[in-house]
Amino acid sequence: MMSLTCDDALAGLELVRRFGGSIVDVGSGGGTPGIPLAVLLPEREVTLLEAERRKTEFLEQWTEELPNLRVVWGRAESQATDCYKVAVAKALAQPPVAAEWCLPLVEEGGGVVLWVGPSADASAVASVAGKIAGELEESMPGFFVIRKTGPTPPGFPRRPGVAKKRPLA
Ligand SMILES: C[S@@+](CC[C@H](N)C(=O)[O-])C[C@H]1O[C@@H](n2cnc3c(N)ncnc32)[C@H](O)[C@@H]1O
Repeated sequence: MMSLTCDDALAGLELVRRFGGSIVDVGSGGGTPGIPLAVLLPEREVTLLEAERRKTEFLEQWTEELPNLRVVWGRAESQATDCYKVAVAKALAQPPVAAEWCLPLVEEGGGVVLWVGPSADASAVASVAGKIAGELEESMPGFFVIRKTGPTPPGFPRRPGVAKKRPLA
């Protein structure tokens, strides 16, 4: 189970490395891909952001072993904007919603790496990205990479729940 998780994280490692600096794993759940990334990139600060309190209590145990790891309890839409270099997310939400939640967290020049399924709609994600100062980049099957090309525009993030109820694309 853990080796499968690490393999998943490893698959996205080179895409994460396109962007230097701090990493936030949005909707970390049981800790993937954030914990394997913290192990593989010990020089990078990794934040596990998770909306469910019970899950953050489990994740906290890992901070004793990994000094570059911290855990934040909260929703993506309620965080300060433009403060991480990379946001990663796996199985967080439909890709257009995940993109809308992740992009505001990242500063200009940084990026978002989404682990996605084979049927994920790149054009919908590109459309969302274009509304939040993001640009879809070339990547590889199973992933979307979005570069943040400017500061988060006014009006984002939208209030908690709105992205799912009224997706941008
Ligand atoms: C299906 S789990 C995926 C967990 C992990 N990334 C994985 O791949 O196994 C999605 C997680 O995202 C969290 N989540 C959902 N919406 C969120 C939001 N707006 N902000 C932060 N976390 C959120 C949920 O509580 C849940 O733990």
